[in-house]
Amino acid sequence: MQKIGFIGIGKLGLDCAEVMAEKHIVRGYDIYPRQSDTVRVCDIEELVQESDWIFIAVPTPHAQGYDGSVPSSHMEPRDFGHDAVIDAIKNVNRYARSSKKVVLISTVLPGTTRKHFVPLLDSKHQFVYNPYLIAMGSVKWDMVNPEMIMIGTEDGNPTALAGELRDLYNTVMQNNPRYEIGTWDECEAIKIFYNTFISAKVGLVNMIQDFAMRIGNINVDVVTNALARSTMRIMGPKYMTAGMGDAGACHPRDNIALRWLAQEYNIGYDLFDTVMHAREIQAKNLAHFLIDLSVMNDNMPIVIHGKAYKPDVPYCIGSYSTLVGHYIEQEGRDVVYVDPLADNQDKVVDHIAKPSVILWAHDRQITYEYTGDQDRTQPYCAIPPGSMIIDPWRKLQSTADIEVIHYGNTRRS
Ligand SMILES: NC(=O)c1ccc[n+]([C@@H]2O[C@H](COP(=O)([O-])OP(=O)(O)OC[C@H]3O[C@@H](n4cnc5c(N)ncnc54)[C@H](O)[C@@H]3O)[C@@H](O)[C@H]2O)c1
Repeated sequence: MQKIGFIGIGKLGLDCAEVMAEKHIVRGYDIYPRQSDTVRVCDIEELVQESDWIFIAVPTPHAQGYDGSVPSSHMEPRDFGHDAVIDAIKNVNRYARSSKKVVLISTVLPGTTRKHFVPLLDSKHQFVYNPYLIAMGSVKWDMVNPEMIMIGTEDGNPTALAGELRDLYNTVMQNNPRYEIGTWDECEAIKIFYNTFISAKVGLVNMIQDFAMRIGNINVDVVTNALARSTMRIMGPKYMTAGMGDAGACHPRDNIALRWLAQEYNIGYDLFDTVMHAREIQAKNLAHFLIDLSVMNDNMPIVIHGKAYKPDVPYCIGSYSTLVGHYIEQEGRDVVYVDPLADNQDKVVDHIAKPSVILWAHDRQITYEYTGDQDRTQPYCAIPPGSMIIDPWRKLQSTADIEVIHYGNTRRS
């Protein structure tokens, strides 16, 4: 059994610490009160002194308005905030009486660890950068079934600590993950470009959806399924279903932050701006489609079914639903949301009073299919007869009372 401490037991850190606690003695420290049945929540002094391993999972937040839930591609590019990581490192220095194995999980831009963090850590400690590929709603499953584990060392060579970390992970993993060892900077890059690759992929398939809507006689799924099966040149089938845009606490903001990095290093172009701009215009196109439908149907109210950035979680950060909502309001139209879980209940209603134009933003089967069989999202409230559901995932079927429109399918049959 190893003695492990987690500094920062929030959305990522707590679940990961609890996974580790199934096999090891785990302590957790957070500046906010947190509770756990299996992780011993304690003060920072005890955590540092009683743990051999110290995992840092504190936030690296973006400034307000940079999460992607409202348009941001016009705003000045900025780096993430580093204060919490710096605070955690200083606490390790302050309270450690012996050498610690320090593992930084938090997401940062390439070059940050070398420039801003390692110089602050006392040289008696060992250090690796070890970002996670984890999504909200499936943190524990993702933690033990990762596509890969990235371990960053100073020169990219596997250090003794990298080997020990691998042994530690092998005690909890359910799959047999691929390990990628690189420099700190390479692992920072693998993590953030992994996320932004997904944004670009979603941006591309949603672009095809936009063309389908304008050209006619095109079901976007016929096109993207054919491309998804084209494994000779275009990679695997994941994220190849057009629908709502890329969202959440990580992906949009990673693109937004990389805009800053592209400027900082004078790359000469800004692909991330293009991806984020496309994401915003795709949301705007969807908003205009909803408004047009509403206008054609006696100004039926517009409702977005699902406000959080995905089903089964409360988080509205980086939500594509609110981005679509933003563009609806920009045209002077009202919009409300139904989502009992949403952590931002602004404009959330608990029932739909009259027939409405309803955007079916959540489809849990599509979102979580990688974790195995999943049920579809069930209505969060009764849908009044006479409503029209706009399904950007193209899975629901019309009933006698409710017409379903498959956004992205303009085939006649
Ligand atoms: N949430 C995810 O799915 C996910 C996935 C991959 C990477 N990440 C990265 O992991 C990091 C943490 O993300 P999160 O989603 O858990 O954020 P979070 O805000 O939910 O959790 C961070 C926790 O750290 C605590 N904290 C803040 N400052 C602190 C300090 N100085 N000392 C101790 N605790 C402090 C906060 O109170 C909070 O509980 C971020 O860098 C994020 O980009 C998150």
